[in-house]
Amino acid sequence: MKNSINILLCFMAFFSLTLVNAQESENTDNKYVFNHGPYLQGTTDTGTYVYFTTSSKGFSYVELRKQGSENVQKYCAYNDGLIEAYNTMNTIEITGLTPNTSYEYRLVSKEITKFQPYTLAYGDSIASGWYHFKTVDNRAKKSAFVVVNDMHDNSEKYKKLLSHVPLKDADAVFLNGDIMTYFYKPEQPFTSFIDVSVDEFATEKPFIITRGNHETRGPLARRLKEYVLRPDGKYYGLYMYGETAVLVLDSGEDKYDHHREYYGITAFDQYREEQAEWLKKVVLTDEFVNARKRIVIIHIPPFGGHPVNVDTTKPPRPGAHSLSEVNRLFMPVLNNSNIDIMFSGHTHRHALIETGEYDNTFPIVINDNKSILWVESTPRKIHVKIFNEEGEMMLNRSF
Ligand SMILES: [Fe+2]
Repeated sequence: MKNSINILLCFMAFFSLTLVNAQESENTDNKYVFNHGPYLQGTTDTGTYVYFTTSSKGFSYVELRKQGSENVQKYCAYNDGLIEAYNTMNTIEITGLTPNTSYEYRLVSKEITKFQPYTLAYGDSIASGWYHFKTVDNRAKKSAFVVVNDMHDNSEKYKKLLSHVPLKDADAVFLNGDIMTYFYKPEQPFTSFIDVSVDEFATEKPFIITRGNHETRGPLARRLKEYVLRPDGKYYGLYMYGETAVLVLDSGEDKYDHHREYYGITAFDQYREEQAEWLKKVVLTDEFVNARKRIVIIHIPPFGGHPVNVDTTKPPRPGAHSLSEVNRLFMPVLNNSNIDIMFSGHTHRHALIETGEYDNTFPIVINDNKSILWVESTPRKIHVKIFNEEGEMMLNRSF
């Protein structure tokens, strides 16, 4: 995770700014522009991270003010004594904010046209318009989330599904795996899901990536972390929204590590074991124990996957390995942790596994690859609606 500083240090001489739209997909005359984002990651009650890219290398920072205030603070990224510069991908942490408060921010950047040992030349200076966001209300009794999965690079379908849920009321959007089929082009996270997210909600509220078994594939899979925030450096984590705890787990690849598809360069058995040890500890933390509602989000479900294999007396088929491991490693902990509901995907088929149907003390909703979930969490219940591509309600139920 990068560090940022409140920009007393990183601000240099004021320079004249050209106002530009942050997301300019067409840049035919090679102007210096913000070409992706901004999108927020990891918004909490006291801060957030602003991600964006510029069309060529520069020095960038974020200006922030409380809504209605003229008092602007500046934040830039800082690591090991150096202020981040001569880069195109920016991750700028905003800290020290007040819970449940509205803020406005904008991006500012100067192109760096020359960078030699003792000579640096700046080119164009640009600034975006102002965007709005709100910090998490750490005492909120009610929270709302969107969950969508298995889009497999289909940004049009993703956009269409987002249009069926009241995004303005959501605290966060969970992308529950296989949003990409395999990662082989640097632009792919933007074209698959980030640009649409920016258009629809991500300048104001974060999305959280739950890795599926497809984000782990392709020559760039190891670079996904450059595009999304991983709290504590892990794809799994605990996210708090007032009185609701959301536990994100990473089910990893679906087959054995020694399967020929992976050529000996995966270690997901070890990863899931390490995650299970973390899980045993996180469910004992005060914030998790004291939450009124507890939701689990994981791409591969513990039961009911394809091929269905819940008979643990037989060796699992290769594609059911992760499913069996989720069942073996995570379920004993979750079954004893007062979980209210689990959301999964992966199978591309809807399923509702009722409490006790297998060895599960909570219901499991498996979403297909062409529907979106709207989830409202209140102290009394968790209400789930599922909408298909046409906007028809496929499920409307309280748990
Ligand atoms: Fe999957």
